[in-house]
Amino acid sequence: MFLNDNEKRDILKYIEAGKPLPEKYRFLLFADKQEVELVWNGKTSEVTNVVLPFQVIEQVDEPRSEKEVKLQQALFDVDPRGRQIKGWTNKLIWGDNKLILSSLKNGPLRQEIQEQGGIKLIYIDPPFDVGADFSMNIEIGEEEFTKKPGVLEELAYRDTWGKGADSFIAMIYERLSLMRDLLAEDGSIYVHCDWRVNSYMRLILDEIFGKNNFRNEISWKKSQGARGVSAGLKNYIRLQDSILFYSKSEGNIYNNQKVPYAEATLNMFKYEDNGGRFRLNILRNYSESSIIAMEREGRIYTDEKGKKHLKQYLDGNSGVSLPDIWTDVPTLGATGRENVEYPTQKPEALLERIIKASSNEEDIVADFFGGSGTTLAVAEKLGRKWIGSDLGKFSIHTTRKRMIGVQRELAKAGKDFRAFEILNLGKYERQLFVGINPNLREEDKQKQITQKEKDFVALILSAYKAEGFDGFKTFHGKKNSRLVAIGPINLPVSRLFVDAVITESVEK
Ligand SMILES: C[S@@+](CC[C@H](N)C(=O)[O-])C[C@H]1O[C@@H](n2cnc3c(N)ncnc32)[C@H](O)[C@@H]1O
Repeated sequence: MFLNDNEKRDILKYIEAGKPLPEKYRFLLFADKQEVELVWNGKTSEVTNVVLPFQVIEQVDEPRSEKEVKLQQALFDVDPRGRQIKGWTNKLIWGDNKLILSSLKNGPLRQEIQEQGGIKLIYIDPPFDVGADFSMNIEIGEEEFTKKPGVLEELAYRDTWGKGADSFIAMIYERLSLMRDLLAEDGSIYVHCDWRVNSYMRLILDEIFGKNNFRNEISWKKSQGARGVSAGLKNYIRLQDSILFYSKSEGNIYNNQKVPYAEATLNMFKYEDNGGRFRLNILRNYSESSIIAMEREGRIYTDEKGKKHLKQYLDGNSGVSLPDIWTDVPTLGATGRENVEYPTQKPEALLERIIKASSNEEDIVADFFGGSGTTLAVAEKLGRKWIGSDLGKFSIHTTRKRMIGVQRELAKAGKDFRAFEILNLGKYERQLFVGINPNLREEDKQKQITQKEKDFVALILSAYKAEGFDGFKTFHGKKNSRLVAIGPINLPVSRLFVDAVITESVEK
């Protein structure tokens, strides 16, 4: 800032008089600032680097072993011809995605992800419904219960919505920074939002990914709109969601997607009904010297009113490149096959486009606000690997069930599928460390108990970033220069335990 003494005095005069500064000063004072950025209360570029351990709760590789095949065939009418693909295991993680992202980025799983080529595509659909009620209705048997959010969910929602849009932005900003760090160099991110937050989101994404890495904004016509006339409306009917598409670099994966020509376009040409099929030969005059002949083939179908419609086949080079306005992906039907009754569930066709365009087979696709698992289900069907997470238990249950269904469907169709594991992060299940198989022989029971105790100690040590060692009765490891003693799994730390620790300390 280059201001002489006169100018400084002049500015002070204006401020003291409470008058606006003349234009001249606006440019002198702020000339250097060229970037546009969004600012909110408490904005910080600090990003957590916490690493917590992942606890494996379950490995799901339905349809299971060859031995169970017969039983399954009887039970589910499954003919598992498709095989489980070895190697990478897909991951469904329960917990707050901030801690999950940071633990993936900074912890040991990072290496495993890198070995698979990194995460090539992230789609997220965060909850931008300010003040929404996150209770859900679940059916158990004949009865329906309203499930209130758990403590973990409530805390996160309060965190997100406590101060309205401010806290939503702070929440998403840190997570998006972590996601960017996790993306592969040729990776992309799609952020689904609507009119409530899309203006903020665009500026935040510009800041994190760089303006030059903005690829597009997709307008998805999410419903068919009003059927009748509603008096008293004071605005146009809102039909669109925005999906913001950014990449990590300019060399992002993009597979051109084709859609058929619009019926109206096809109808401009003469065609003959050839037993329910049509073929159009179109001559186009592109310039004075080039005339291009194009062929369009397709099916003719008649609607209930007897009107004929043309539907073009999509093969080879036919069709047009997919534009950024999507009016042809219908909303989820209330009773459709894919509806799993998750309130914010998105249609699979929407994710199919995104996944096909911005990833290839075998790539890792991730959704950290997974909901009912739409992204994961489509990724699996399209031969991609996946990582998903959600804070809600209901979401994890819904997704687990849905993914087992997808595995079975693939196996039945003779297609290969992958096993997935369910992981917890930040909140661990004690049950996993205490339950012992009662049918085991005494000797094996003992072995199982010892192994589970070891797993428990390892989890706690890694959560506290301590190093394990043997050779002590009460101590299990050390952190820097301090010894670490871990209390029993299923009992509180008692005076007796503390006494034992003191005695051993004195002895040694
Ligand atoms: C709009 S829904 C996603 C719906 C999903 N696209 C689908 O098709 O089912 C948003 C999800 O984000 C989850 N969520 C909200 N905050 C979260 C957090 N901090 N960590 C992980 N998941 C979170 C919610 O539990 C909810 O399931």
